[in-house]
Amino acid sequence: MLLLTIVAGLAVVTTLLILFAPYIRKYASGGVCTSTSRLDGKTVLITGANTGIGKETARDLTMRGARVIMACRDVEKGEEAAASIRAADPKAQLEVRRLDLADTCSIRAFAKEFLRDFDHLHILINNAGVMMCPYTKTADGFEMHIGVNHLGHFLLTYLLIGLLKRSAPARIVVVSSLAHYFGWIRFHDLHSQGSYNGGLAYCQSKVANLLFARELAQRLKGTNVTVNALHPGTVNSDLTRHSTLMMIFMSLFSIFIKTPREGAQTTIYCAVAEELHSVSGKYFSDCAPASVAPQGRNDQTAKRLWDVSCELLGIEWE
Ligand SMILES: NC(=O)c1ccc[n+]([C@@H]2O[C@H](COP(=O)([O-])OP(=O)(O)OC[C@H]3O[C@@H](n4cnc5c(N)ncnc54)[C@H](OP(=O)(O)O)[C@@H]3O)[C@@H](O)[C@H]2O)c1
Repeated sequence: MLLLTIVAGLAVVTTLLILFAPYIRKYASGGVCTSTSRLDGKTVLITGANTGIGKETARDLTMRGARVIMACRDVEKGEEAAASIRAADPKAQLEVRRLDLADTCSIRAFAKEFLRDFDHLHILINNAGVMMCPYTKTADGFEMHIGVNHLGHFLLTYLLIGLLKRSAPARIVVVSSLAHYFGWIRFHDLHSQGSYNGGLAYCQSKVANLLFARELAQRLKGTNVTVNALHPGTVNSDLTRHSTLMMIFMSLFSIFIKTPREGAQTTIYCAVAEELHSVSGKYFSDCAPASVAPQGRNDQTAKRLWDVSCELLGIEWE
């Protein structure tokens, strides 16, 4: 009897899911960037653009006329992604360059060549990220999540900030996550040497993204360079590659989850929306303002993280 009830229940749920699939998909796809603004003559840099949200962002921005530099740790994968974008749009202006955010030497080498080869940078999109990887350290000994997601992008932005200012109006877009709600900055053990949990390390790095954007927005006042952060939604991408459980979850509930193209909409919105031309230091989700958890909007923590980051990277950023 119990088995019969379970089977009948599952049959009802499955039928409902099939019947309402188009509506569920429409709701799950979230906000869409409706801006038609063109980016002809603009230079855009996107980190982690060989797959997922970054690749779809690159595709959209090239279609708007931008010259897009795809900064990827694996150039071969980057070239494959660029080729697939070009296949659909042969006029797409794309260039793949090597950037490993887990190695400050690679970041410095990338920035040096970028500054040599480009006169302008109008939009910097700090998109690359890792999630729930086993405990690993970057080439400089930083825990991987804080090292790649926060410190790597912190150094990259520092090295390119002069060019962004000279190219103003310019925008910096920081891809954070709703996961910041579950994280906090563990100043006493930033690199999780005492205890490690991949999920918490990811959440910490996403709070760091928000605090970085917040403090940077303060420092960029009056420069015509804006910085905003965002949550892309729950997106079916390679981000879950280190967690079998998450991969199973994504497959089972794919109907409720955004495609990478849908997940790229808020990034694109922050990069191009006309109404955001002077908006800075804000956080968006589904192409609309969203609320930040208290730990992501604490000015003192933001300032402290800034100082700690500068110290770890051996830089002075006034
Ligand atoms: N997917 C979601 O549900 C979700 C939700 C909230 C926030 N986000 C954020 O969205 C951003 C993009 O994620 P995604 O979903 O598009 O994931 P993804 O498909 O895994 O893309 C991540 C990108 O980052 C690159 N990357 C990783 N480590 C790198 C390093 N050391 N140096 C340079 N690039 C590196 C990856 O390169 P490889 O391919 O070579 O590894 C890949 O191109 C991330 O910041 C993530 O935290 C995603």
